[in-house]
Amino acid sequence: MYEDWIASRVNSANYLKTSLKELKLAKKVNQLQPDRLKEIYRKASAIRRLRGFWVTNFKQTTDEEVAELERERPTTRLLSIHVINGCNLACRACNHNSSLLGIDSRVDIDQLLQDIEVILPKIYVWSHISVIGGEPLLEPRTREVTKRIWELCQETNQPCNVKLFSNGSRLKQEKEWIVDEMLKGVVFRLTFHKPWYTIEGSKNYENAYDFMEYAKSRGLDVNDGTFELSEAFRYDDGSPRQWFDLVKYDYSDGIKYYPYEDGNPVESFKHCSCPNSQLYNGHLWKCPMISYLRESLAVTGQLEDQEWQKYLDYKPTSITGTEKELRKSFKEVLVPHDICNMCSANPKWFTATEQLDPKRKKHVEMFQPQTYDTV
Ligand SMILES: C[S@@+](CC[C@H](N)C(=O)[O-])C[C@H]1O[C@@H](n2cnc3c(N)ncnc32)[C@H](O)[C@@H]1O
Ligand code: SF4
Ligand code: SF4
Repeated sequence: MYEDWIASRVNSANYLKTSLKELKLAKKVNQLQPDRLKEIYRKASAIRRLRGFWVTNFKQTTDEEVAELERERPTTRLLSIHVINGCNLACRACNHNSSLLGIDSRVDIDQLLQDIEVILPKIYVWSHISVIGGEPLLEPRTREVTKRIWELCQETNQPCNVKLFSNGSRLKQEKEWIVDEMLKGVVFRLTFHKPWYTIEGSKNYENAYDFMEYAKSRGLDVNDGTFELSEAFRYDDGSPRQWFDLVKYDYSDGIKYYPYEDGNPVESFKHCSCPNSQLYNGHLWKCPMISYLRESLAVTGQLEDQEWQKYLDYKPTSITGTEKELRKSFKEVLVPHDICNMCSANPKWFTATEQLDPKRKKHVEMFQPQTYDTV
């Protein structure tokens, strides 16, 4: 019924093919009335036509440029900064370990603000600093953190972008300050987790469309590089996107996590979707799975489980460490480590929209041990 309507709006044969396939699925799912389906399709198409749609997440650079930065300060491609551990969604393969952490699983923002003052003058980040979570728009002080990170990047001559990530669920409420920051140069990266033709997904696409129109009304060129978008369930060419469980789930008694221990950390690391340094709790960590492990195990009541003790023994690097220690920490991010044995070496892929049971979520406070007994 909409085939002609779609055909009149697209000019690439491949795009047409995948759009028609998607539409078939939309009809099968049958969650939206025909007029609503048509309206949301129009809005989703406008969003998918934006220049920032599925644009690469990383800044283009040369080895020489990175080496030049390295000569002056310890340098990393990316620094993730969690402004909240919790999330309103429960994506089964969330690589930031937020799937079971409820929305009140917060971080200490005063400490975080102090930590960024300490670390940013001592290092370079060449691609981007991610303001991330969990879902950052659930933390009322995310604006303050984003603003200060942006300022500090200017003050410390960072070559990188500052990128605010979101699943878009609070886009309507937070749009004003997000556009304020985008007008300065902060990149907003929005990810859709549910297809546009579902009831929940349609709201996200509609909100994103309204956000785009609002940003334009404020004078923002939405194709200027500050608006990036991706879809968790579908690649740009329309093919389905799949994720895999990073750790093993056992559903026999509620939900428990276990390390995979496939015995091949090198292979596990090859599949890693998040080899990125994390600034958390006054320390630099190899990746998100290890940074937020304590909080995740608190949800499932497994902090004392024998299987996890060797991973909990991992030593992050203090942000007050020496230059040599900071360099070592950034190097550690790039190579396999014993802890990678917790992640699967033989991924079993499933559609990335899968959610865990949200009723299993718990609010967990940030762990603040006196010391991690760091090197
Ligand atoms: C961890 S989320 C945090 C921000 C926000 N909640 C969101 O979903 O955009 C940041 C990005 O990581 C992506 N992501 C999460 N788990 C992933 C996985 N297992 N593989 C690939 N990307 C993943 C999400 O799709 C999102 O674009
Ligand atoms: S929206 Fe999904 S991917 Fe993003 S933090 Fe929440 S659970 Fe993780
Ligand atoms: S433990 Fe290794 S493979 Fe697993 S998320 Fe961290 S860096 Fe990636």
